[in-house]
Amino acid sequence: MIYPIYIYGSQALRKECEPITEDFPDLAKFVKDMFETMYAADGVGLAAPQIGKNVKMFVIDPGFYAPDNEELKDTKRVYINPEIYEESVDEIVFTEGCLSIPGIHEDVSRPEAVKIRYLDENLQPHDELLEGYVARVVQHEYDHLQGTLFTDHLAPLRKTLVGGKLNGMSKGKFSAGYRTKQVK
Ligand code: CO
Repeated sequence: MIYPIYIYGSQALRKECEPITEDFPDLAKFVKDMFETMYAADGVGLAAPQIGKNVKMFVIDPGFYAPDNEELKDTKRVYINPEIYEESVDEIVFTEGCLSIPGIHEDVSRPEAVKIRYLDENLQPHDELLEGYVARVVQHEYDHLQGTLFTDHLAPLRKTLVGGKLNGMSKGKFSAGYRTKQVK
């Protein structure tokens, strides 16, 4: 099932998410729906609050649109109750976008590498060191679980410049090539 994606201005994008517990109803279907929704919107990652579910879970598939990229092979993942517990001191700047903020792309500085603990779709624990593009996607999605959006990281001047567009977006002024929803 393809869910509509919640757009900037929606409450769900600003709430802290709850951990997923073992009695979560039909986790397998939820995981499948998250991927379907992500692919339908041409996204490389999607966090549960983006479909209005405030639980600690996101999915990524950075290699989906770049099948020949060796670095991105086998990086399709489900991250449940993730915890980033270490970050590199070195940061890099990379242009980000977000399915919940259509039409805005801005440079964001973040740690180049992170260490993350999480459960997979079978609730099996993992511990990974992530670098490069995958680390970037994961940090962006991880932010969503604490109610943080990439535009929160912009330098003050860029924030002001983008602020007008965001304001309009929160009032319903946006267009996206996929199903969307705005719940205030
Ligand atoms: Co996003």
